[in-house]
Amino acid sequence: MPERLLVTGGAGFIGSNFVRRMLRQHPDLAITVLDKLTYAGNRANLADLEGDPRYRFVQGDIADASIVDALASETDAIVNFAAESHVDRSIEEPDAFIQTDVHGTFVLLEAARRHAHRRYLQVSTDEVYGNVPTGSSREDDAVRPRSPYSASKAAGDLLAQAYQITYGVPAMTTRASNNFGPYQYPEKIIPLFVTNAIDDAALPLYGDGQQVRDWLYVDDHCDAIALVLERGEPGEVYNVGGGNELTNLELTRMILELLDKPMSLVRRVPDRAGHDRRYSVDSSKLHALGWKPAHSLADAMAETIDWYLRHEDWWRPLKSGDYLEYYRRQYGERLAAGVAIE
Ligand code: NAD
Ligand code: DAU
Repeated sequence: MPERLLVTGGAGFIGSNFVRRMLRQHPDLAITVLDKLTYAGNRANLADLEGDPRYRFVQGDIADASIVDALASETDAIVNFAAESHVDRSIEEPDAFIQTDVHGTFVLLEAARRHAHRRYLQVSTDEVYGNVPTGSSREDDAVRPRSPYSASKAAGDLLAQAYQITYGVPAMTTRASNNFGPYQYPEKIIPLFVTNAIDDAALPLYGDGQQVRDWLYVDDHCDAIALVLERGEPGEVYNVGGGNELTNLELTRMILELLDKPMSLVRRVPDRAGHDRRYSVDSSKLHALGWKPAHSLADAMAETIDWYLRHEDWWRPLKSGDYLEYYRRQYGERLAAGVAIE
C-alpha cells in the first residue's frame, strides 16, 4: 500500500467507506481527500475521522489543475472516486458528467504523470459495457456505453489506459457492479426505496421492473480496490461483480419484506430513457488475484437496512431543499402516471 494516498471523491458514498476502511486497516497510511462537495458529497460521511492526524480534507474540484497539482506533489498515488454518478441526472443534465468524469480524470492523470506517481487507480463501472442480455462481460470486451453517465465513465477509463501506454503512468481500472451499504445518497434505488418505505411513501419502480443488476456490498468493493492498488498490473482492467443478480422487482420485494412493509407501496412508473436491461461482469481475473466477496446478500442487505433505520439523522436532512426539487422533476409526473402492482 502506498504511504500517502490522494483519494478524490472521498466524501461520497464509496469513497468515504474506502477511506474509513483503509485508515482502520493500515496504521501507517496518510490519506488526503479532495472533494468538490457536490450535492452528493457530504463531510458528515467522514465526521468520525475528523481529528485523526492521518486524515486531511481539502474541498476542491478534480478539474482544477492547480489544486490537483499541489496535492499530487505531496502524495504517491491517486484513487479516483470523484464523479457525477447518477444515471437519471446524466439524462437530465449531462454537462457536469463530461466536466468531471472526462476532463477531471484527464487533469488527475496529467498530475500523476508529472509527479511520477507510483499508482493511479480509476474507479469505474460495469455500465461501460452497455446492455448485456446474456452471459457476462470480460475486461477485454468492447465498451458500448448507452447513457451520458456510462459514456463519460468509459471515456475516463480509456484515458487512463492511454496514459499507461503512452506515458507509462501506472494506471489501473476497476469496473464494479451496483454497490449498496451505509452512506449511499438517497437517489439510488436502495436508499431511495428504503427511506421512502420507512415513511410509507410510494416506491417508483421503472418500467416492468425486470431489469437486472448485480449487487455488491460496498466493503467488498473497497477490498477489491485496495487489492488492485497493491497488486494490480499497470494498464489492466479488473471487473468487480457481487455475484448477486436480481431483478428490480425482486430487490424491491426483498427490501419491503425486511422492513415489514406492504407491496402496495410500489408504483410502476414510466421507464428511464435508454434503460439498460442487464449488466453482468465476469470477475474471474480479480478472483485469480485473490479477491472474492466476503458478505452474503441477505446479511449485508439486512445490515444496510438496519443502518438506515438507525441513521435517520444522516438521511433526513439530505431529503430536503434541492433534493425535493430534484424529486419533483424526476418523479412528479411519473408518479402521477404510475400504477399499482398486482
Ligand atoms: P457519489 O455520487 O456518492 O460520490 C461522488 C463524490 O465525488 C461526491 O463526494 C462528490 O462531491 C465528488 N465529486 C463530484 N464531482 C467532483 C469534482 N469535480 N471534483 C471533486 N469531487 C467531485 O458516488 P459513488 O456511488 O460513491 O461512486 C464513486 C465512484 O464509483 C464513481 O466514480 C462511480 O462512477 C463509481 N462506481 C459507483 C458504483 C455504485 O454503485 N455507486 C458502482 C461502480 C462504480
Ligand atoms: O452498475 C454500476 C452503477 O450502478 C454505477 O456505475 C452508478 O454510479 C450507480 O448509480 C448504479 O447505476 P444504476 O442506474 O444501475 O443505479 P440506480 O440505483 O439508479 O438504479 C438501479 C436500478 O433501479 C436501475 O435498473 C433503475 C432502477 N430504478 C432506479 C431508481 C432510482 C427504479 O426502478 N426506480 C428508481 O427510482
